[in-house]
Amino acid sequence: MSETLYFETSKEDKTARYAELIPQISSLLLGETDEIACLANTAAALFECFSFLWVGFYRVKTDQLVLGPFQGPVACTRILKGKGVCGKAWAENKSIIVPDVDAFPGHIACSSLSKSEIVIPIRDKNRDVCAILDVDSNRLDDFDDRDLTGLEHICGILEKHLFSA
Ligand code: SME
Repeated sequence: MSETLYFETSKEDKTARYAELIPQISSLLLGETDEIACLANTAAALFECFSFLWVGFYRVKTDQLVLGPFQGPVACTRILKGKGVCGKAWAENKSIIVPDVDAFPGHIACSSLSKSEIVIPIRDKNRDVCAILDVDSNRLDDFDDRDLTGLEHICGILEKHLFSA
C-alpha cells in the first residue's frame, strides 16, 4: 500500500476527483481493521483531495456523538442527538446538505470560517447510525449532488469495512 495520494484531475472537477479518490481510500483501508486508523486516514485523504475547511467523524456513544478523527480547526467534542446538523443527520438517519450554515436553525458553529456543510450518516449492520462524516467548507453553497454521491460511496465503503460484522 502506498501512503501517497495521486490526483491528475482538478479539484473543481468533483466527479473525476471522487473517482480518483475512492479507489485510493479503499487501498488505504486494505488490511487495516482498527477503526481509528481507518477513519483518520479517510479524513486526511478527503482533506487533502479537496482542501475542505474541516473533515471529520463523530462516533455514536450512547446518547451523544463524540468527536473522532478529523482534519482542520479544533471542533466541539460532543453533540446531542437531534442537535445541530450532525445530530439531525443522526436522528433522521439521512444525509444533509447545508448551503448556508447561518440559515440552518440550531447549527453548531465550531469555526466562524465555516459557511456550508454536508453530513453523511454511517450505519452498522442493523442500519442504525454508528458514526457520521461531517465536511465543512469556507465557501457558501460548496456541496452538491456530486459530493453527496461521492461521500455516501465512501461512507458505504467504511460501513462494509468497519461496521458490518
Ligand atoms: N456544524 C456541526 C458541528 C460540528 S463542526 O462543524 C465540526 C453541526 O451543526 O452539527
